[in-house]
Amino acid sequence: MLSLKSPAKINLFLRIIRRRPDGYHELASLFQAIDLCDEIRIAVAEDSAHDLFTCSDPTLPTDSSNLVIKAVELFRRKTNTTKKFSIHLKKQIPQQAGLGGGSSNAATTLWALNALCGHHATESELSAWGSEIGSDVSFFLSNGTAYCTGRGEILLPLDPLKNSALWVIKPHEGLSTPQVYGKLKVEELSGRDPEEALASFLSGSPTYFNDLEQPAFSVMPRLALLKQQLLDAGFSDVLMSGSGSSFFCMGDGAMPPLSRCKVFKAQFLNRSCHTWY
Ligand code: C5P
Repeated sequence: MLSLKSPAKINLFLRIIRRRPDGYHELASLFQAIDLCDEIRIAVAEDSAHDLFTCSDPTLPTDSSNLVIKAVELFRRKTNTTKKFSIHLKKQIPQQAGLGGGSSNAATTLWALNALCGHHATESELSAWGSEIGSDVSFFLSNGTAYCTGRGEILLPLDPLKNSALWVIKPHEGLSTPQVYGKLKVEELSGRDPEEALASFLSGSPTYFNDLEQPAFSVMPRLALLKQQLLDAGFSDVLMSGSGSSFFCMGDGAMPPLSRCKVFKAQFLNRSCHTWY
């Protein structure tokens, strides 16, 4: 039996480049794993005719629409194994938050199944397989810091950044990723050069931006007020993560009382090659 952390991610910057003919968007983003984690327990279900999957959160489906089950089915297809698995997912990462919780669960499941079956696939094979079930899955098979392009599945692995303490704020209301992408207006994109942004991060003078903030604010106007409230509280950097609705804040501010939000303390998380987070 394996018991593994399944971490969340934030996007330190997120630049949307263009809409592609297949409906996805070309992006360029610096992804960072953080120590806000779910936990996944997995074992081979000896003598079972089917997978057994339970989840601590009763609002999450446990059928084949769950990315954990998609990952199990993908792994069986790719490796021709007929083994069945028993899996329990203990959720802590909020949903519809832009924190990649479902994608992380899928990546963690792929890594765990590979370990249980003898490590026959390489981490880069797992990463390529993961992109078939979600744009963010590949990232979680990196070391925890990566510059991601394409749909998000093309990775430039980076050395860990200087660790930063941060707050994650998740409003009770979530946001649907396709809905936020659907509100994107080309004229509202930042036009920033993502490679320059990456170079600034690597040289220790980060600038945080997210081209999905404006579309998310138009879906949920309360988010713009929340961002201002966090800036007024003295945080130097306040940014929505991914397609929202969560924010992360860094710097010396004092967390104000926030209505209808969950607040988490977190820090950057990285892993070494061949060990999980
Ligand atoms: O790949 P994934 O299933 O996570 O994507 C969910 C949805 O997010 C897609 O159906 C698409 O609407 C949107 N998306 C996008 N461009 C990306 C990633 C996601 O438009 N690069």
